Amino acid sequence: MASVFVTRALPFEALDRLRAAHDVDEWRQDMPPSPGDLLARTREVEGLLTLITDRVDAELLDGAPALKAIANMGVGTDNIDVEAAKERGIPVGNTPGVLTDATADLAFALLLALARRIVPGAEKVRAGRWETWEPAADLGADLAGATLGIVGWGRIGQATARRAEGFGMDVVYSSRSAGVPLPELLERADFVSLHTPLTRQTRHLIDAGALKRMKQTALLVNTARGGVVDQDALRSALHAGEIAGAALDVTDPEPLPADHPLLDAPNLLVVPHVGSATVRTRAKMAAMAVDNLLAALDGGPMPHQVA
Ligand code: 8YV
Repeated sequence: MASVFVTRALPFEALDRLRAAHDVDEWRQDMPPSPGDLLARTREVEGLLTLITDRVDAELLDGAPALKAIANMGVGTDNIDVEAAKERGIPVGNTPGVLTDATADLAFALLLALARRIVPGAEKVRAGRWETWEPAADLGADLAGATLGIVGWGRIGQATARRAEGFGMDVVYSSRSAGVPLPELLERADFVSLHTPLTRQTRHLIDAGALKRMKQTALLVNTARGGVVDQDALRSALHAGEIAGAALDVTDPEPLPADHPLLDAPNLLVVPHVGSATVRTRAKMAAMAVDNLLAALDGGPMPHQVA
């Protein structure tokens, strides 16, 4: 039996398999452990099951000499210093594939919400401002015939493209190794949807210059990572009308405080990082993270290992 720390209460069946096999310590509070708590609880463990809210850096790894495996419940691993783990021979696992459809669905939900002004419309009704049917009010943008630019051509980007085809959109994409150059995509697209991991190369990929290249009527959707967008530049672009709107599932920081200046920007929709938040998807993610941890603690390779 190995000792394992699970950094949040995970009410999924898969955890029973972990508890049956190992000595599991679970963080049971609503808020994530602070860096100090994480360090203290990880000090003697062999296995760690983390979430995006946990920062796993070299300092934490040095404070946990017995650590043999880290399973992140998420496909993104930017909360973990994967190189530092690799240098110490600690495998890191993630949960690819199982959240592809849920995240692509959310990208599309945000795209449709922006295009058809769903949130302002709902607010208008509740505020008693729906006075009559107006021929030229609440008008949005058509999807059919519009061009969707997909930045990042991994599983989720491609799943978003499949949805776009169903809506009669033309799709262009840009990735490190294929598709059209990013500037061209930004100039051509009526909607831009971000699907890149957050790396040194993609931090602030969408900066002031990129936003200026977009059409003034274009809408931006980010279900990737908040850091891919320069939020100060986005705020300015929305205020200046350089783009027509943005919908963000991810922000920098997360959570975004209610008094954050970004939230003053017009035509901005922000939801609280819910790309993978469906009942079935979260259960599958937990199962995959548990499988990764069980395999590594058993001395084998993780089924889904990033390093
Ligand atoms: C997860 C995500 O909910 O998987 C990812 O990379 O961004 C989210 O879908 C999150 O990572 C949970 O830890």
